[in-house]
Amino acid sequence: MEKLKPESSIVILTGAGISKESGLDTFRDVGGVWSKFRLEDVATPEGFARDPQRVHEFYNARRRNLLDPEVKPNRAHDALARLEQEWPGEVLLVTQNIDDLHERAGSRNLIHMHGELFKVRSLYTHRVLEWQEDLTLETLCPDTGRPGGLRPHVVWFGEMPLEMERIYEALSNCTLFMSIGTSGTVYPAANFVYEAHQSGAYTVELNLEPSNGATFFQSHRHGPATEVVPVFVDEVLARR
Ligand code: APR
Repeated sequence: MEKLKPESSIVILTGAGISKESGLDTFRDVGGVWSKFRLEDVATPEGFARDPQRVHEFYNARRRNLLDPEVKPNRAHDALARLEQEWPGEVLLVTQNIDDLHERAGSRNLIHMHGELFKVRSLYTHRVLEWQEDLTLETLCPDTGRPGGLRPHVVWFGEMPLEMERIYEALSNCTLFMSIGTSGTVYPAANFVYEAHQSGAYTVELNLEPSNGATFFQSHRHGPATEVVPVFVDEVLARR
């Protein structure tokens, strides 16, 4: 990777793999979330319409898991927060993850394109609320006082990811694109490397193993995120 101009901007995409060493399951690894639940039942609008209680129970379990004191940011999350703080140009972190580990590590310029586990949305007013409790069909919507009016503020399959315009704008201007801990299975995130490459960015995949999109990247660092991400961040900062 040649010297990066100090004013150049960096876009980082993360997926479930970056949170794996913090104790959160990925989706498609052996024993992952989609080996235990049918995504059609718990991560689609149709599944929520069919059986909202089952969807609430699925996200209640993940919310409780994220509240476990043992679950905390790892060295990869910390390294990305350090990169944002120390890099002279803009660093935008786009995560597919709905956990709050990037925030807790100190990342600020952050987009949760698939929503957030600690937020819910009113079905009546569409207002987004901070929320760490269980949700049930009896939970009253604070805006209307009506029961059953809240859903997880999570983007389900078939729904539009959040802040896509801002993401594509950043991809068209970045000089470095890093993809970390994602299988490159789900679009539009899986297409970001192509957009970045089209803009002339240097593209790097940091993942436990080659992802589905590995061939689209100019460079690869394969290994656990807590090992490969801090090392790569040091290399980037050395090129200021
Ligand atoms: N370090 C780095 N990478 C890892 C680690 C680790 N310790 N452990 C696993 N990985 C890699 C796996 O090799 C895999 O490529 O993380 C990736 C996880 O892929 P997925 O389970 O498919 O998760 P992700 O890519 O984030 O899924 C994208 O799919 O289900 C939807 O909305 C959900 O945001 C999610 C989206």
